[in-house]
Amino acid sequence: MNIETRPSRSACIKRRELLKCAGGCLGTAALFSVAGRLNAFSGEKNAVAAPQVGDVFVVYAAPQTHNPVCLKDLVIDAPPVLVRARDPVSGIVRDDNGNASLILLVRVNPKKITPELRESSVQGVLAYSAMCTHLGCLVENWDAEKKRFQCPCHKSAFDPVQGAKVVFGPAPRPLPLLPLRVEKGMLKVAGEFSSHVGAQHG
Ligand code: FES
Repeated sequence: MNIETRPSRSACIKRRELLKCAGGCLGTAALFSVAGRLNAFSGEKNAVAAPQVGDVFVVYAAPQTHNPVCLKDLVIDAPPVLVRARDPVSGIVRDDNGNASLILLVRVNPKKITPELRESSVQGVLAYSAMCTHLGCLVENWDAEKKRFQCPCHKSAFDPVQGAKVVFGPAPRPLPLLPLRVEKGMLKVAGEFSSHVGAQHG
């Protein structure tokens, strides 16, 4: 587990860094595809690696940019941004679990989502596990036309406005949802994942 340099807590990630990452970050993270084919957050050690309430988010492909992602940085219907959770006090980035550590942040039109989903979102921003529920690959592709997440391994597609419901392919269940809240403009974790992260064996 990396211990990051303590960040400036008042600033958000620079917008140009985030825009560079929208889409581009997803490809970089493919390196973790094989390492991530494990059940996630199932052991005691891994429980600590799971996102905790109050964690902020840092962009995966810009670890040098320690500033957290803020609500204002995310644009409706733009490609998702791949992030990891970070303890805002210790600066620890929760990166021990390969693909299971990776989270997709996406902003949709809040009018398009159900009241139930809205409760876990912040003004249309939703956070989902980036680990495929089929065999645990990284869900690293974005269908810009249909506005869906896509897994490159066996083509499963997930619709963010329907709670990341499976709309194509062999994945057996939606990507788990991570509840969000906003504090001083920064997006933060507000609860646990809605279900088991990654593939479920046995
Ligand atoms: S691992 Fe994602 S569709 Fe098979």
